[in-house]
Amino acid sequence: MKLAVVGAGRMGGAVLAGALRAGVLESGDLGVYHPEAERRESSARRFGVAALDDAGVHAAERVLIAVKPQSFERVAPLIAQRDGSYISLMAGVTVETMSARLGSGRVVRAMPNLGARVGASATALTWNPEATDDDRAFARSLFAAVGTVYDLPERLFDAFTGLSGSGPAFAAVVAESLADGGVRVGFGRDVARDLARQVLLATARLLEEQAPADLKDEVASAGGTAIAGLRALERHRLRFALIDAIEAASERATELASANGARR
Ligand SMILES: NC(=O)c1ccc[n+]([C@@H]2O[C@H](COP(=O)([O-])OP(=O)(O)OC[C@H]3O[C@@H](n4cnc5c(N)ncnc54)[C@H](OP(=O)(O)O)[C@@H]3O)[C@@H](O)[C@H]2O)c1
Repeated sequence: MKLAVVGAGRMGGAVLAGALRAGVLESGDLGVYHPEAERRESSARRFGVAALDDAGVHAAERVLIAVKPQSFERVAPLIAQRDGSYISLMAGVTVETMSARLGSGRVVRAMPNLGARVGASATALTWNPEATDDDRAFARSLFAAVGTVYDLPERLFDAFTGLSGSGPAFAAVVAESLADGGVRVGFGRDVARDLARQVLLATARLLEEQAPADLKDEVASAGGTAIAGLRALERHRLRFALIDAIEAASERATELASANGARR
C-alpha cells in the first residue's frame, strides 16, 4: 500500500480522486482509514480503494493526513510511527507540531485549495529537513495531479492560506454579486448566474496571458460602459475590501496555527 488517506472528506477525497484520475496512483496503491468500520467501508467503496484499519495504516508506505486540524490531536497517536512518512494538508498545523506529535521528522506540509476537485488547485508545499528526496517527490506528484505546486517557506503558509486557500470563497462572492447585478438589470437568475460564471472563466483564461491592469485598461474604453462601472467600484472601495479580506484571512490562519501549536 503506497498511500493511506486519513480523512477522505472534501479535500482528502479530491486529492485521492485526482491522483487516481491522473494515474499517479492506482486503486491498489491506495487505502482510506476511518476509526469507524462502517465509515471506512463506505469511503473505500466510493473511491474503489481498500478500507484500512489501524494495522493497515501502519503498514502503508506513506500517510496523507486530511482530517480537520482540531481532529489531529485525537488522530496523531493512532497513526504515529517512528520514521513514518507523512503528508499533511491540514490548515494551521506546522511541520514542527506534526513532527513532534507523529514521532517522525519525515513530514511534508501542503496547502491546496478547493480547485483540487477540478484539477486546478494552487498548492503550496514545504517540508521538514528530515523529509527525504523521495518524500518530497511523492508529495509533489500527488498535488501536481490536482493542479499547480509552489514550493514556499513555511513562514508564508498563513499568507498563502489567506489568498489561495480562502480565495475561492471570495471569488464565489464576486460571482454571486455579478449575478445579482444581472438580475437587477433584468436577467432571470439562471441566465445571470451563467453569465457571471462565464465572465470569470474568460477573465481567468485571459489573465494567463496578460496582467490584470492591462486587461482592465483594454476593456475600459474612453467614456464607455466599463469605466463607468469601474468608477462605481472605486466609490464602493472594492479594492480595499478584497485587500482587507486577504489580510483578515491570513491573520485568522496565524491565530489558528498558534492555537494548534499551543495544544502540543
Ligand atoms: N476545504 C478546503 O477548501 C481546504 C483547503 C485547504 C486545506 N484544507 C484542509 O483539509 C482538511 C480537511 O478539510 P475538509 O474541508 O476536507 O473537511 P471534511 O470534508 O470534513 O473532511 C474531513 C474528513 O475526515 C474524516 N475524519 C474525521 N475524523 C477522522 C479520524 N479520526 N480518522 C480518519 N478520518 C476522520 C471525516 O469523516 P466523518 O465526517 O465521517 O467523521 C471527513 O471525511 C482540513 O484540515 C483543512 O484545513 C481544506
